[in-house]
Formats: sequence, C-alpha cells, structure tokens
Amino acid sequence: MTLLPALFIQNCGQLLTVAGASQSPKILKGMDDLGIILDGAVAIKDGNIIDVGTTRQLGKKYNRKGVNIIDAWGKVVLPGFVDCHTHAVFGGDRAGEFVQRIQGENYLKISKKGGGILSTVKNTRKLTLEKLVAVSKKHLDAMLLQGTTTTEIKSGYGLNKKDELKILKAIQRLQKTHPIDIVPTFLGAHTIPSEYKSDPDAYVDLTCNMLQEVKPYATFCDVFCDEGGFDVQQSERILSTAKKLGFRLKIHVNEFKDIGGVILAIRLCVTSADHLDNIRHRDILKLKESGIICVLLPGVPFFLMKDNYAPGRKMIEDGLPIALATDFNPGTCPCGNIQMMVTLACLKLGMTPAQAINAVTINAAHAVGMADRIGSIEVGKQADMIILDIRDYNQLPYYFGINHVKTVIKRGRLVVENKQLVGSH
Ligand code: NIG
Ligand code: FE
Repeated sequence: MTLLPALFIQNCGQLLTVAGASQSPKILKGMDDLGIILDGAVAIKDGNIIDVGTTRQLGKKYNRKGVNIIDAWGKVVLPGFVDCHTHAVFGGDRAGEFVQRIQGENYLKISKKGGGILSTVKNTRKLTLEKLVAVSKKHLDAMLLQGTTTTEIKSGYGLNKKDELKILKAIQRLQKTHPIDIVPTFLGAHTIPSEYKSDPDAYVDLTCNMLQEVKPYATFCDVFCDEGGFDVQQSERILSTAKKLGFRLKIHVNEFKDIGGVILAIRLCVTSADHLDNIRHRDILKLKESGIICVLLPGVPFFLMKDNYAPGRKMIEDGLPIALATDFNPGTCPCGNIQMMVTLACLKLGMTPAQAINAVTINAAHAVGMADRIGSIEVGKQADMIILDIRDYNQLPYYFGINHVKTVIKRGRLVVENKQLVGSH
C-alpha cells in the first residue's frame, strides 16, 4: 500500500533537486550539476519529502482523492534559498550615508566619524525587544516572499551584554513565530563600541565574558576580523574561547583588507570564512585543504561601488566549496534578496547560473550546519521548496531585479501563494 502524502507537487518543468551532496558540499564539476528532473514531481508528508521522481512515475501513486495537489504548470521548482550570512536584526536605516557615499564619501571614513555600524548600534539600543522583533519581522517577511526559507542572523548591533542579549532574544522570538528557519550567531565582536575606543582589548575581554551568557541563544560565534574591526590576535582570543564553550565558528575576513584572517580561520577550523573579497591565490590553495565553506557576498562590493569582488569562478576551479549569501545589513548591503545575489555572482564573480544556485541552496546549508535537513529536494529532507515563475533556471539571473518566486512551501506548508504571504504569523 502506498503512503498517501498530504501534498503532491506535479508538473515541475525543471525540478532542480540539487541532490547528492548532503554529506559534504559541492565542489568542482559538482557545482555545475543541479540534479534536474524534467517534468518532476514531489510527494510530501508531515513536512518532509517522501518521494521524488517524474510526474508520470509519481502521478499514478499520489494523484488521488484526499491529497492536496499543487500544479507547477511547467515552471522551475527548487529547494528554498538558504541565506547563510545576514545581520537582519537592527534598528533604523542608513539611507543618509548611502547618499553621502554616492557623492564621494567612503564607508570606512564615515565609520571613523561615528557613522557606520556605530550609528546602527545607537538606533538598535534605543528599541525595546518588542519593537526590534516587529521591525525585523518585516525584513523576514520580505525575504520569505523572495524565496528564503532558512536564514542565519547575527547579533552585533548591541555591543554590550544587555543589548546583545536583546538582539539574540529577538532572534529567538522570530525563530518561534516566523516560518523562516533561523540559525542564530553571536557577533559581539562586530566593531569596538565608542565606550571602549581607548581600550579595545577591554572590549575583547567583555566579549569573551559575554559568551557564557549568550550560549543558550546562539549556535555560531562570529568575529569581524578586518580593518576597522578586530585584529588576528583579538579574533583568536574570542573565537577560541567560544570554541571551548561549544560554539561553532564563523569569521568575517578580507572584506576590506587582508590582515591574515584566512590563516586564523584555518587554524581554528571554522565552519565558514565569509567575504574573501581580497584574497591571495596562496590563501585560496591553503583553504582548499581545510574543508572550510567560503561564503561570498557580492552584494557588498556592489553596494559599496568597489571592484574587488571575490574570484568566485577561480575559487571553484581550484576546488573550493563556495556558498553565496546576501549579508543583509543596513550599511553594506541593505538587500535581502538572494535572487539578486545569483545575478551578481554570474555578472561579477564569473559563476554560471547552476553554480550560483548550488551556492544558495546545498552549499549554503552546509555553511549553517543544516545540510542533513535542508538545501536539496531528496527523500527524508524537510519539504522547503519554491516555485519560480520561469521555465528555464537560466532565466533566474537573466531577468534580474524582479521577484521570480510565485510559491513557497515551508516544511510542507504553503506559506507564499501567488506572491502573497499566506495566513498570519
Ligand atoms: O558584513 N563590516 C562589517 N559588518 C557588515 C557591515 C555592517 C554595517 O555596516 O552595518 C558586513 O559587511
Ligand atoms: Fe557580514
């Protein structure tokens, strides 16, 4: 007897399963393979995928009374996007700085004058937990409508124990109430707060002291190891303390300058090294042996009007596992749309559409330690899927700047239909 599914999705013109890389991320030729099933179908029960095949094979079993059927009408169906690097919980915005920058001012100079991250810290500290949850929910709703079904979110706009905890609690509240799955990261070491400008090492001590208390709220610990952030020694102190406490690790490196962060990342066996816009070939080769996922964030140099993009294609040719993310934040990339990052990866990192799609699904799932549950359409995995209003996946980056996502299914539940949120959450 066939198990009757609760949901059956049929007539998927191209079903991009992205299958076969749940154990270890895709590399080399694997990044060109999307595991496409033409005229595909998927059966779902209790939030999980129970069968995958062609509509012809599966239709006989599942297209019957008592089953909810979704007809994809020949469109492209793929795993929900995984945004593996964001700073999506913050107060206020920095549209004013954007206007200054397009008139010639530069990001680091604005930061040195008390703008930048510190101005968002001021605006985030002002908000109550409830207000912070409310403004962040709006951002998450927009991300869900654009196809993101799992996102990582970092703290880092509190920079003291009380406000870092407030942000992590806001993330936890969203985790419980929003359809998007959230992976929480503690980024107390985002920048040195103004109170500690004259004694940065005292802030490193404070960050280390915060770790114990924030542990129940965060899976990962991250450090901004770059110019304007923390040096290698300070970063190592924080990350190795975090590691002893059981955090998994991430690190921001080589966004503005190469200060040696890649070597530290390798030494500490971080799960992912993120940004890598200014990376030397020597370090690419060292990363290759490390198993670290390289998270590239092309929205950042794009929005900062720079041309030092990470050499994505080269890194793939050299055998590195590449993931892509938005870095959604109010300063360097106020865009939480993964589809835009797929376009930028093609235009600016030299990646093919297939490579970019692997990078925002299964490889991004590896970057947040969830590849056993999400990131591909395979039996036993969580049913997180999206239907795009296109017939060929190459059209995803090609028709850029519009939202292709028509339908979002999260854990087997319809959460976006006809480009609208379904129900309240
Ligand atoms: O990942 N520069 C460090 N952190 C963010 C920017 C945050 C901000 O400007 O508010 C980044 O680029
Ligand atoms: Fe970031």
